[in-house]
Amino acid sequence: MEKKKQALPARRQVVMSGIRPTGFLHLGNYFGAVRNYVRMQEEYECYFMVADLHSLTTHPDTKELKANVHRVLAENIACGLDPDKVALYCQSHLYETCELYLYLCMLAYKGELEKTSTFKEKARKQPDNINAGLLTYPVLQTADIIIHRARYVPVGKDQEQHLEMARNFVNRFNHRYGEVFPEPAAFNFGEELLKIPSLDGAGKMSKSENQYATIYLSDDDELIRKKVMRAKTDPGPAERNSAKPDYIENLFLLMKLVGTGDEVKKFDEDFNNCTIRYGDMKKQLAEDMVKFVHPIREKAEAFRNDEKYLKEVMQKGAEKATKSANATMERVREAMGLKYF
Ligand code: TRP
Repeated sequence: MEKKKQALPARRQVVMSGIRPTGFLHLGNYFGAVRNYVRMQEEYECYFMVADLHSLTTHPDTKELKANVHRVLAENIACGLDPDKVALYCQSHLYETCELYLYLCMLAYKGELEKTSTFKEKARKQPDNINAGLLTYPVLQTADIIIHRARYVPVGKDQEQHLEMARNFVNRFNHRYGEVFPEPAAFNFGEELLKIPSLDGAGKMSKSENQYATIYLSDDDELIRKKVMRAKTDPGPAERNSAKPDYIENLFLLMKLVGTGDEVKKFDEDFNNCTIRYGDMKKQLAEDMVKFVHPIREKAEAFRNDEKYLKEVMQKGAEKATKSANATMERVREAMGLKYF
């Protein structure tokens, strides 16, 4: 029987994001970012990159870089990122990014770079090292994204200005040299970005704030229990069906995320009846949290100690990323008139 000629499958929409290799992954990163990546890998063509070059703008000492890169890879894989489904690679392994970065530098103006909030903040923090890499950070980030001609960039609010700049650089490029790049936009899977509240009731979980108020995926069971038991509470509601204060609402949210629905319902009823015992609730939450984090931590440790596996992951990732980057760079050099023979 004659085989029907099949049309080439349309390229799936391209998603790209960068993960800084500084600090340990915490619950806020998990629910705010990594879980979204994991969902996206099924439906999109995904490029997830460890931003090791960007880290040089603030951390020029590279002694710990290798260990940090390994850890970040291991933690993300432990959370469910599948190196066979996505391109998981290191920024420094994709050399083409540096070429594109250079071209984009000629389209980026000193004035706009100096006005960037992240630049101003970092310049204030490291007045003795206001290097050109720091100034052009958003240009390199743009190159990371558009080297794959990505349209969707799963990032948090703090990256919005960088994406705005990326769109400006893209438009300038397209205007000057012809349409090569789609405009990239911030994107998240499904609902709005979840902000994970910190355990002390002040702000969200983050690396820089109170360490006891943030649960890391590398925390051991005892530390998790200790942190949860120290979470802020009060003597309990005085009236039936009162509104929950923020820090109590937070405990309920965390329980919803890591636990089973049943307990949430029970404690919710207890709250409304004014019979809630926060000590019991925190004990339950601590156990739910341990159950949630423990397997991720174990997996991450195993991957982290398997250098051979990590090497294969990085090589495979670099290969996929390079293939996509080469296709883009051919178009770029052509569009820019850099082909002399
Ligand atoms: N700047 C991002 C951050 O601080 C990391 C990053 C580097 C990135 N390159 C990227 C994010 C490309 C999205 C796309 O988190």
